[in-house]
Amino acid sequence: MSEPVIAQKSPFAVEVEAGKSYWWCACGKSAGQPFCDGSHKGSDFTPVEYKAEQDGTVYFCGCKHTKNGVLCDGTHSSL
Ligand code: FES
Repeated sequence: MSEPVIAQKSPFAVEVEAGKSYWWCACGKSAGQPFCDGSHKGSDFTPVEYKAEQDGTVYFCGCKHTKNGVLCDGTHSSL
């Protein structure tokens, strides 16, 4: 498995809407962080779906090294 690109070493705070799906960029190359823009094509990565259960702020991982799905788990501070 190749290493993802570190888009930024901090999470992206995004206001999400209940019932909506969001596609988190896993490769780190998207120009529309933290979401997929198709830049993963030709790599080992595919975007990961996040389905919002309620309205609110979600902290999507920006370093792409989180072990907590698509959400920031603090791993960025050790990179
Ligand atoms: S931004 Fe990746 S773990 Fe925090």
